[in-house]
Amino acid sequence: MQRFTLPRDLYHGKGALEALKTLQGKKAIICVGGGSMKRFGFLDRAKQYLEEAGMKVRIFEGIEPDPSVTTVMRGAEVMTEFGPDWIVAIGGGSPIDAAKAMWIKYEYPEITFEDMCKVFGIPQLRKKAHFCAISSTSGTATEVTAFSIITDYDKGIKYPIADFEITPDVAIVDPELAHTMPKKLVAHTGMDALTHAIEAYVSIAASPYTDGLAIHAIEMIQESLVKSYGEDMDCRDKMHDAQCMAGMAFSNGLLGIVHSMAHKTGAVFADYGAHIIHGAANAMYLPKVIAFNAKDETAKKRYGVIADYMNLGGANDDEKVANLIAYVRGMNDAMNIPHCIGKYGKDSFPCEQGFVPEDVFLERLPSIAANAILDACTASNPRQPGQEGMEKLLKCCYYDTEVDF
Ligand SMILES: NC(=O)c1ccc[n+]([C@@H]2O[C@H](COP(=O)([O-])OP(=O)(O)OC[C@H]3O[C@@H](n4cnc5c(N)ncnc54)[C@H](O)[C@@H]3O)[C@@H](O)[C@H]2O)c1
Ligand SMILES: [Zn+2]
Repeated sequence: MQRFTLPRDLYHGKGALEALKTLQGKKAIICVGGGSMKRFGFLDRAKQYLEEAGMKVRIFEGIEPDPSVTTVMRGAEVMTEFGPDWIVAIGGGSPIDAAKAMWIKYEYPEITFEDMCKVFGIPQLRKKAHFCAISSTSGTATEVTAFSIITDYDKGIKYPIADFEITPDVAIVDPELAHTMPKKLVAHTGMDALTHAIEAYVSIAASPYTDGLAIHAIEMIQESLVKSYGEDMDCRDKMHDAQCMAGMAFSNGLLGIVHSMAHKTGAVFADYGAHIIHGAANAMYLPKVIAFNAKDETAKKRYGVIADYMNLGGANDDEKVANLIAYVRGMNDAMNIPHCIGKYGKDSFPCEQGFVPEDVFLERLPSIAANAILDACTASNPRQPGQEGMEKLLKCCYYDTEVDF
């Protein structure tokens, strides 16, 4: 038996933010990041709409990108003190994910972060509050997913919290919020969305329910991402919907090892100034993982189907897989994303000598590989790598060498 769960209500299209006026409750806490939502006036509008709905509003601001366990615990304390019956998270994946974890701690003050990370082990929520998520980036789709990614900076590891309990009650997908994204954010979050859709389509937990969403999202991303990067605002709007559909697919069809590797490399080189941004990590690893997974016959066929929907040509599945890999690499080139960790430089742009020195990478490789294998996303990948395979794959992601194993 499989389960397919989404928010009960999804408001989309320009002006959807106004749907906040329809929420019913007494007190709402708005969780928000470092300033973009405030700067562009969306925070004020959200507050005003909630007040129009008759609610007392408190704002918890300053949630950092790739939020920490410490921030989650701090936010939960504020919630406990204020007692909201609505948690409204607005911004990119970071503030929304942090608010989801705060929600768990608010409902169950005794729960530890370790307990939260037990896959599908969250106790029943909604005894104190409901959750509304409003995304301002076009990538994570956390407004519709059962996931939250929190970083333990002591360990340098990102931990996914996974449970349908944290699927928001209401999602607001208003493309106007995404118009203010700088180009680099468009590129990274867009490649994150493409990775979600492709991984969900080849996942062993894929189903006809998720396939339709994944394929349509891939087509829309192909049509609109690079143009959205080029400041075409109609395409920016399309990307906001496409990423959300990709999220509906992967929240129910799960992901694969591109994400396992991205989770485990994101913060591990932070001491060398290399914070490998989630979407950039995915963009670099995706072509390598496609080549690795395509050694599995079923996965190869499914990549072939993706290539067909994208009209990439190819006389057989091997050619289609090669064309898909080339196409993804071309998207990275078009949006100035490097192809490998070794060339990941300042501002996440490609450069000759990236942040992560070779000897540091090689020294940390065994533990990164072991952690990536243990990541919650590995189990649904179509091909299971062992320690040796994962190390080889990560090396290909460092040197940009071909995956032939
Ligand atoms: N929960 C999930 O299902 C899921 C899926 C994928 C990734 N993630 C996680 O989400 C996080 C990344 O989220 P993200 O990529 O959305 O970025 P983010 O939330 O970390 O934001 C990145 C930066 O962009 C700014 N920003 C956000 N929206 C903006 C806008 N409209 N205009 C201008 N600036 C804006 C923010 O202030 C911030 O400085 C990572 O921690 C990643 O691991 C979660
Ligand atoms: Zn992702």
